[in-house]
Amino acid sequence: MADTGIENLLHENRLFPPSASFAAAAVATQADYDEADADYVAYWTRQAKERLTWFKEPTETLDESNAPFYTWFADGELNVSYNCLDRHLATGGDKVAYHWVGEPGDTRTITYQQLSDEVNRFANGLRSLGVGKGDQVAIYMGMVPELPIAMLACARIGAPHSVVFGGFSADAIVDRVDDAQAKLLITCDGAWRRGTVVPLKDNCDDAMARAASLEHCVVVKRTDHGVDMKEGRDIWWHDLVEGQSTDAEPEVMNAEDLLYLLYTSGTTAKPKGIMHTTAGYLTGVATTHAQVFDLKPESDVYWCAADVGWVTGHSYIVYGPLTNHTTSVMYEGTPDFPDKDRLWSIIAEYGVTILYTAPTAIRAFMKWGSQYPERHDLSSLRLLGTVGEPINPEAWMWYHTYIGAERCPIVDTWWQTETGGIMISPLPGVTATKPGSATKAIPGISADVVDGGGNSVPLGNGGFLTITKPWPAMLRSIFGDDQRYIDTYWSEYPGVYFPGDGAKIDEDGYLWVLGRVDDVMNVSGHRISTMEIESALVSHPAVAEAAVIGATDDLSGQAIAAFVTLRGGFDESDELLVELKGHVAEKIGAIARPKTIIFTPDLPKTRSGKIMRRLLRDISDKRALGDVTTLANADVVEAITEQAASYADDD
Ligand code: PRX
Repeated sequence: MADTGIENLLHENRLFPPSASFAAAAVATQADYDEADADYVAYWTRQAKERLTWFKEPTETLDESNAPFYTWFADGELNVSYNCLDRHLATGGDKVAYHWVGEPGDTRTITYQQLSDEVNRFANGLRSLGVGKGDQVAIYMGMVPELPIAMLACARIGAPHSVVFGGFSADAIVDRVDDAQAKLLITCDGAWRRGTVVPLKDNCDDAMARAASLEHCVVVKRTDHGVDMKEGRDIWWHDLVEGQSTDAEPEVMNAEDLLYLLYTSGTTAKPKGIMHTTAGYLTGVATTHAQVFDLKPESDVYWCAADVGWVTGHSYIVYGPLTNHTTSVMYEGTPDFPDKDRLWSIIAEYGVTILYTAPTAIRAFMKWGSQYPERHDLSSLRLLGTVGEPINPEAWMWYHTYIGAERCPIVDTWWQTETGGIMISPLPGVTATKPGSATKAIPGISADVVDGGGNSVPLGNGGFLTITKPWPAMLRSIFGDDQRYIDTYWSEYPGVYFPGDGAKIDEDGYLWVLGRVDDVMNVSGHRISTMEIESALVSHPAVAEAAVIGATDDLSGQAIAAFVTLRGGFDESDELLVELKGHVAEKIGAIARPKTIIFTPDLPKTRSGKIMRRLLRDISDKRALGDVTTLANADVVEAITEQAASYADDD
């Protein structure tokens, strides 16, 4: 096996073919693979024309002349919000778009007609603030209906949005706003989380004071806990939409105009602004949403239990489902509030048929125990999905047994912020699944596992995952940094896309994604760069140097472990440990708070000064140490090992 630096201990032979009845009624069939195999550009072009409503149909398809800056359908014109809303209204305006459930127990049912009216009123409100085509808008909100409304209103007026996850800090807003030069920030006074208020507006006040490009802040009243509103700068959402018309002309957008930026971690401290454009992205998410989730819009109640602040929410709570005229559930809070059966009670109440969640959540459900789902009638479910990280076969089997009642196919979907939509996944009516394998590339996508030299590995071997042909929903570049786009994704193996994941291909040609091969961790299904946390630690006056790794963790997949060397004059103490954890949470957000911090006199480094995180991972996971011959300071390893052994998880 090629050295991916990733351990592969999985050997899984159980096979779960779709039932005959599921297969007989399935949306996607073998014919989709056959058509795409024959001509993948023609296949995607047909999806684009049939699934989308165009103001001007494209005559162009894939343009490879300026690779890797590929374009799709470049002379087409459309509007994304028109595709999500207007075209459904004549015959399906009364249909529910979202059954929204607030964490405290309040609910809202929003039809397509109501959603369209709210989007148009807000779009007019945005225009009244001087926001128009090409202006960047930052969004920092909780999971309230106004979040998709804000995104769709931006899409309607051609203003690219940049959603910042509501769990991030003011610094994260400032970085992203500065990078994109956003003019407007949309937020809520606060968000509900486990019965307490997350002070979103306070964080925005901090950001507004520092991000010079921001002119206004629009604020949804949600928690009503009393916030400062700065005269002339801050506007309540309800005041902005008051008296606005429910008609708003959709901007005519080119297929390759920017729809949104979404920032994701890379191997440096600076997050990458991933660029998604209109037509290719919408083609990708609409097609995959229909095929992978076997969507029957007339009868399904679909629930993607992610946060809209991540790409999963963009593609599979907002753009894919609405394009497909889906009825969705959207939930504001956490799965354990007020009790650990919240998800199951919502499924029973709304008759949810399709559930899409993350392995980290499934492992938590497993830990809490089957008595929670057993309290509720989950018989409406017919399909389950997972995304965000490799799922352990044990968690897969638990999901299959206790949530799916051994009846529901599971689609394990591999994709990334950069890919826009699902790339590797079973098609539920076609593919026999194996617990822990994302199985095969979907129709129109070509994946391969290669060795360090870029050659395909034989079946049964491991190596690096690559995507060998462009696809419509692919990122177009990194905002403001084309060179970084080329270097990160297209230089490792020229001509093919390198996602940064290790993978294995088994004897049956099934793909097993094994995890990241770069210095990016996957914590609870979210990518976090080791470098970002190291920078945050080093910004504390007591810290001289820091190295961060993802340590194996039963619950979150990887837990953040930091190794810290202090500056002269500072002493190791429990207080400092707590302070450093809090410092990282403040700089980046609670999701980045290290679970363990280990003080150490020095860090293991190569002769060229590069920190050997691989060794730290070995120490942390109590594995035999790999190659230490390139180490400049071998004695430090012993000191760190001793130190690590004396620390229990100090959470
Ligand atoms: O390492 C892979 C892992 O998550 C990374 C992408 O993270 P992000 O851009 O935050 O998007 C997450 C949601 C799409 C990938 O490079 N990953 C995602 N899904 C899977 C996965 N690893 C294994 N199996 C999956 N199903």
